[in-house]
Amino acid sequence: MRIAVPAETQGAETRVAATPETVRKFKGLGAEVVIEAGAGKASGIPDAEYEAAGATIAKTAKEALKGAEIVLKVRRPAEKEIAALPKGALVFAVMDPYGSEAEVEALAKANVAAFAMEFMPRITRAQVMDVLSSQANLAGYRAVIDGAAEYGRALPMMMTAAGTVPAAKIFVMGVGVAGLQAIATARRLGAIVTATDVRPATKEQVESLGAKFLAVEDEEFKQAQTAGGYAKEMSKEYQAKQAELTASHIAKQDIVITTALIPGRPAPKLISAAMVESMKPGSVIVDLAVERGGNCELAKPGEVATTPNGVKIVGHLNVPGRLAATSSSLYAKNLYAFVETLIDKAEKKLAVNWDDELVKATALTKDGAVIHPNFAPKA
Ligand code: NAI
Repeated sequence: MRIAVPAETQGAETRVAATPETVRKFKGLGAEVVIEAGAGKASGIPDAEYEAAGATIAKTAKEALKGAEIVLKVRRPAEKEIAALPKGALVFAVMDPYGSEAEVEALAKANVAAFAMEFMPRITRAQVMDVLSSQANLAGYRAVIDGAAEYGRALPMMMTAAGTVPAAKIFVMGVGVAGLQAIATARRLGAIVTATDVRPATKEQVESLGAKFLAVEDEEFKQAQTAGGYAKEMSKEYQAKQAELTASHIAKQDIVITTALIPGRPAPKLISAAMVESMKPGSVIVDLAVERGGNCELAKPGEVATTPNGVKIVGHLNVPGRLAATSSSLYAKNLYAFVETLIDKAEKKLAVNWDDELVKATALTKDGAVIHPNFAPKA
């Protein structure tokens, strides 16, 4: 059983899909692991550490992939990588398939079984495999660090001989996995934290972290959480009430961190240009939703922009990748936890149960066809 880990090829991807720790674990299951030279470099893992863990280093992706039954990646293989994938291999990555139906089709044509790790169901058994949570948690942490770095003042209140420094006010919009970590991090750094969300369940979570909750708590709010635990797109009326409530609050904040998302929809616009205008010079907005269209009207993907009134709007892409060593280590463990369930440990070979709930939820392609219900051709 051979496992290949090619280097990531997409522009700025700094993460890697295996670490020396997971290499050792795969070896323990009887697998042979081949890593493309330099694959871990941007995550601070030199080839020698993979070798010490028992992996073989291949000079090129093609060489690494030769004969592999399992391919571990962070991002979906790009067009030019697909040709080198061995037929029948199982390929694991964040496949980002929506809007990329042609690329999913190409994976099917290449006769590989592609698994979208982000489709992992959020059930207890699969928590350890939940890449969305592991990466969002780190993004939330990093958003506060990035915001603090752009903010020209200290976050905690400091009483010094030269005078008192006031605590910074941080407002977190969207309290999912990333938002909760942002609140916790901002609190640890001594900021005064407030937060908002449209799901009622978040109120208690916010308060348990020592932050204050702020939201329009009407009838619609009470129904805003789906059975899956996600937010619904709110009505125009609700959005207007929400904007009215948050506008005067945002004007008084030093740092605003936005993380609001709705599955399958563009990110809700929560901060208008006028709200940005109302903020003090030197204040900072960190928009974690920028890859999905942004929560702030003025956020620019991949840029730190400064408005004419001196507000910085941080729109970094791939925020988990800004902590590559940590995010790779958690991502690699998520992958290991899933792949392990697809291996017969006594026989030391692949034994995928295609009827398993987790396999059914994540498998996009198999035997030359797109099989996922969300993408398969309608009968
Ligand atoms: P997400 O990334 O889809 O969205 C982030 C947050 O934005 C959510 O809290 C959402 O309610 C909020 N939001 C959407 N529209 C908004 C608006 N107009 N204004 C303010 N906030 C808005 O969510 P994420 O982080 O994936 O979490 C979703 C749920 O899944 C949470 O309840 C979380 O606790 C739960 N979860 C469950 C796990 C499990 O294994 N049981 C694992 C991880 C998360």
